[in-house]
Amino acid sequence: LRGMNGRSFLKEIDFTPAELQELINLSIDLRDELETQKSGGATVTKYLHDKNVILLFSKTSTRTRLSFEFGADELGANTVYIDPNSSQFGKKESVADSAKVFAGMADGIEYRGFAQSDMEAMAENAVDTKGRKKPVWNGLTDEWHPTQMIADFMTLQEEFGHLGNDITLTFVGDGRNNVAHSLLVAGTMLGVNIHIVAPKELQPASDVIEIAEKYAKETGAKPMITSDVDEGVKGSNALYADVWVSMGEDNWEERLNLLGDYQINAEMMAKTGRKDTILMHCLPAYHDMNTKMAKEAHENFPGLVGEDGIEVTNEVFESAQGRQFEEAENRKHSIKAIMVATLGDVSMYPKA
Ligand code: CP
Ligand code: NVA
Repeated sequence: LRGMNGRSFLKEIDFTPAELQELINLSIDLRDELETQKSGGATVTKYLHDKNVILLFSKTSTRTRLSFEFGADELGANTVYIDPNSSQFGKKESVADSAKVFAGMADGIEYRGFAQSDMEAMAENAVDTKGRKKPVWNGLTDEWHPTQMIADFMTLQEEFGHLGNDITLTFVGDGRNNVAHSLLVAGTMLGVNIHIVAPKELQPASDVIEIAEKYAKETGAKPMITSDVDEGVKGSNALYADVWVSMGEDNWEERLNLLGDYQINAEMMAKTGRKDTILMHCLPAYHDMNTKMAKEAHENFPGLVGEDGIEVTNEVFESAQGRQFEEAENRKHSIKAIMVATLGDVSMYPKA
């Protein structure tokens, strides 16, 4: 664990497979420690005592913000949240200058942005005037969503008791988005079989597939990329959905046309051939028509959007197979683990 101290987490491959596994195990330990405190036991360890953490968001967020904010507080740190509109960032001031200012005042920086190159520039420039480098955590870019992965594979490990190539997680939908790319790489690094089921136009970028194939050789995971739903979902232990139009995109019509056959519904769940397949979703989800965006999509594209959800039906979302709120809860535990490992006083961790 000590080897991660001082390092940034910008994408999955910044850490080794063993380190990702350590983060998952630490997440579980931090969750258990918090549960002990809630039931009147010892208080949680203040691994981040008196640290200052900046939470910079260029896109909106619910889970990631709450996880960093409450997580940092539970660990003894102070946070300042910067929303997408009310600072100089991204308008009057460059990523590099902002990073230097942040590093001068804070010990760690969470950043949710657009281009991964901005994330890399943030980390490169997050150095204070005395030359001290500060860790940067990627809270989501157009390319990757690494903090989500620790929560998702923690959820899978809790469900199945372990991670390995006897487990298949199948992502269905926009296979080129941040979550699909991250699942393919993180899952393969952790030895889990990842299937990406997506139309040809929306299959993962070739450099991402190459990374996954390289790790697959090391870990024995068997990744699969296919446009064939029957082939892709067969035998899956988990089906994973994400929105078809990600933040920063505005191509509803194209996506609805391409992804019409890729909705996770009861029929698709049955095609796994298993009764115990779980549903995963990073959230937010369009599983019914009750949100503003889902209503707009339904009104604008009546022939392409039905009454029963977009990427996942309400029936499957609300079924006993849904694990999306476990994932959401695990975001806080796993984000705490990432902060502890990279910024915390790990000598306080009994297993360090
Ligand atoms: N899953 C996720 O990142 O959620 P938020 O966009 O609400 O942070
Ligand atoms: N792919 C989604 C993930 C949201 C957590 C997006 O980028 O909007």
